Amino acid sequence: MMNTIVHIPVMLKEIIAYLKPDSEFSLMVDGTIGEGGHAEAFLKLYPELFLIGIDRDSEILEKARERLKPYSNRVEFINANFAEFFENIYSDKKPDIILLDLGLSMYHFQRSGRGFTFLNDEPLDMRLAANSGLTASYIVNNYTKKDLADLLFKYGEERFARRIADKIVYRRNEEEIRTAIELADIVRSAVPPEYRRRRIHPATKTFQALRIAVNDELENLASGLRSASKIINRGGRIGVISFHSLEDRIVKHFFKDTVKGSSESTEMPNSESRGVFEIITKKPLKPDGDEIRQNPASRSALFRVLRRIK
Ligand SMILES: C[S@@+](CC[C@H](N)C(=O)[O-])C[C@H]1O[C@@H](n2cnc3c(N)ncnc32)[C@H](O)[C@@H]1O
Repeated sequence: MMNTIVHIPVMLKEIIAYLKPDSEFSLMVDGTIGEGGHAEAFLKLYPELFLIGIDRDSEILEKARERLKPYSNRVEFINANFAEFFENIYSDKKPDIILLDLGLSMYHFQRSGRGFTFLNDEPLDMRLAANSGLTASYIVNNYTKKDLADLLFKYGEERFARRIADKIVYRRNEEEIRTAIELADIVRSAVPPEYRRRRIHPATKTFQALRIAVNDELENLASGLRSASKIINRGGRIGVISFHSLEDRIVKHFFKDTVKGSSESTEMPNSESRGVFEIITKKPLKPDGDEIRQNPASRSALFRVLRRIK
């Protein structure tokens, strides 16, 4: 089978500039290896680097394995949730670099057939790990109206959450909602007419909210950061690329609380991390105009880096 790569790694030059390994024999953990774009660049640039590549999605992990064959003696692939991996890391060597490039890959939208995009007639699944938890279809067809509206508001910041939840419940009482296109049409019919004419599809936030809920994305990010900060080596760096404000808020507060030694988002005993970390990116870095022109999907990326100093 041909290994067609569809995802362009975002902010590659900034990531390479800010996540330099301290020594030749560093260990990097790519917690969201996807199709392996970032991983390949690091392996090519640093001939002694060892990389552990993690992804929740076993299908995409196979694509990374195929792509990174030339480096197979320096890569280990693990099909896991990064939050769980960091909690139970077995390696006796601490990672010097941890990279999290959050969310989904282009592969998920274009090739996975799991209903991540409202443009395709695919079943509403949206699970990254095929054997885990609830599908989007279960949520849409079974949650109460209130729970649906709360979910759309909390994870999509959708201002028409209540109207959309009303319409979903009305329509599912007639017939089960099965596909991404069916759901997108329901959302479109629920929002005021002026929102149907905007450049952004009116179902964008609903789809974002559902996939975040299905994959526990925000909880995994929060607990993944806590565990990552406990295992990162002295001098090591944690780099996170987020794609929307809900994610970035978690990263920003976690970094600040960690540096201050506050227990608010870190859940560490007070002051345990005070003076141990510094924030390398006072403000998040963003892709430049050239990158956004070449890869419009990068436009909302925000990159932050935390370094363990002692
Ligand atoms: C934006 S893509 C990464 C793209 C990759 N950096 C590249 O250059 O090809 C994000 C990846 O993270 C994976 N992912 C999302 N949440 C995860 C989690 N909690 N644990 C492990 N992998 C996760 C997704 O399956 C997806 O493949």
